[in-house]
Amino acid sequence: MNQPHIRLTDVEMTFSRPDGSGEGIHALGPIQLDLRNGEFFAVVGPSGCGKSTLLELMIGLTSPTKGSITFEGQPINGSCPDGIGVVFQEDASFAWLTVRDNIAFGLRRTALDRREQDERVENALAMMGLVEFADVYPSQLSGGMRQRVCIARTLVTQPRLILLDEPFGALDQQTRLLMGDEILSLWRKTGATIFLITHALDEAAMLADRIGVMSSRPGQLIDIVETNWPRDRDSRIVENDAFGVVTARLWRSLRVESMKAIGKTEPRR
Ligand SMILES: Nc1ncnc2c1ncn2[C@@H]1O[C@H](COP(=O)(O)OP(=O)(O)O)[C@@H](O)[C@H]1O
Ligand SMILES: [Mg+2]
Repeated sequence: MNQPHIRLTDVEMTFSRPDGSGEGIHALGPIQLDLRNGEFFAVVGPSGCGKSTLLELMIGLTSPTKGSITFEGQPINGSCPDGIGVVFQEDASFAWLTVRDNIAFGLRRTALDRREQDERVENALAMMGLVEFADVYPSQLSGGMRQRVCIARTLVTQPRLILLDEPFGALDQQTRLLMGDEILSLWRKTGATIFLITHALDEAAMLADRIGVMSSRPGQLIDIVETNWPRDRDSRIVENDAFGVVTARLWRSLRVESMKAIGKTEPRR
């Protein structure tokens, strides 16, 4: 199948101001982007450049002011299509449910028969290394493990496209690298397309087949870097010289944009 898995055409987003005054806040775009079926795509960009807005548009949580988005050839309008799963930045586990019930939460409200639900939950527990924690509550887990619960909860819906919005933002560097390995392994096992938003250049460089670099607000794609990593890879790729070349290129594209985001400009020399 050669059609892009998800296609964004001339997508722009302008938010109106809370008091309705002025021209509105041009948050994003125009954006053109085709994701290939089964690829691992990462997005990096300065804070406030519209990354989360982009993700919200891709799941139909908000509608673009201009342009259009199609998923598997069908337009997205107003609701998250079956086949797309999302993992948000904040720890979104439910404190009052055990790990197993957290993971089953979405499935219990579907028409799937109970045996199939249970099987998917057990598979997701195994895939995310949570089997022995199935009956404990999130408060008894580390931050990294709680985030694994959230990933497992998305996995049970068997998404063909998985969107992750800075899912490891709150974790320490070492845990982030190891979580990256788990994401790579689940990407290989599921064959899903992955779209990962991150502010960490090394994370993008280590994980993705292609990395889109966004400008400061209104976010536009100013560079797309192909890493050419083998499909079978893990965090040890950071030892590779080519890894340094990729992160250096990302920083070259991002440095000026990041300075704009904090209100600085390049000093004259
Ligand atoms: N619902 C909203 N109403 C008004 N402005 C918004 C809304 N959501 C986001 N924005 C603005 O859009 C810009 C991009 O936000 P966001 O997508 O959250 O950036 P990022 O995820 O890259 O940090 C920011 O300037 C933010 O203030
Ligand atoms: Mg964000």
